Amino acid sequence: MSKRTFLLLGSMMLLLLLFLEVTTVAFLKIFQQTGTPQSIERSQYNKKKKGKAKENSMSAESSVKANQAKSTTAKKDEPAQETMKPAYTKSVAITFDDGPNAATTPQLLQILKEKKVHASFFVLGDKIEKHPDITKKAIENGNEIGSHTFDHQDLSKLSVAEITAEITKADEEIRKSIGERPAYVRPPYGSITSEGARIINRPIIEWSVDSQDWKTRNPELIVRQVEETVYDGAIILFHDIYEETVAAIPQIIDYLHSQGYQLLTVGELLDHPTAAENYYGRNDHRPS
Ligand code: NI
Repeated sequence: MSKRTFLLLGSMMLLLLLFLEVTTVAFLKIFQQTGTPQSIERSQYNKKKKGKAKENSMSAESSVKANQAKSTTAKKDEPAQETMKPAYTKSVAITFDDGPNAATTPQLLQILKEKKVHASFFVLGDKIEKHPDITKKAIENGNEIGSHTFDHQDLSKLSVAEITAEITKADEEIRKSIGERPAYVRPPYGSITSEGARIINRPIIEWSVDSQDWKTRNPELIVRQVEETVYDGAIILFHDIYEETVAAIPQIIDYLHSQGYQLLTVGELLDHPTAAENYYGRNDHRPS
């Protein structure tokens, strides 16, 4: 072998070794990243799955957001409570004036009973005189009875003697029906002077949300008015002498429950007050 041939063979061997090393390193690198052909397929499959899972979680997220947006339009700060029975976080009192009425009040009492809800009735002495059984039934069902005076006069326009008669005559009729003097009085039109309040000498229950049932006489509008104006701690005014009010009440109860409102009597909502003040809602009472 000549010296030249030896050099040529030597350099060819070196090139071959270099080539082998480069390809081996390259192969090892690829192998480390992707694994065997099977595991390559698997990793691609996993990537696809992850993508889908992400899509799913995103659509779940967006539906939660949509629900939130939906409930935000109904009322601010309400959690989405469509499927789960809500825990009550708020409370209101629903109150009914001007009864009892022989046609509508018994229907309303039946609805309240079925919905397992108690309300406060501010009754008129001259009506209870004709239907003492209805008011008695209201109490037996767990509702509360207050006085709305004897025959619905504006107390702020009456003399001391006349106001006294309006209050004591109503007290008598209520006592005959339910066996006790009502703890609360709601003056007709919410109208009372400080002199009248002194004669009444017990908590005067006003209201802070007016369903305006007396004005609209339309179940849909009564429902909407409550939905738009209700708030935590409110005393809501209705009249149990209108069939439109009775028609609206089941939907109103369902709505309030769905929004996390517990329905209480006035006494429960206000924690059974005794001070002779004017009460408009929970934490809202003013000296008479
Ligand atoms: Ni009234």
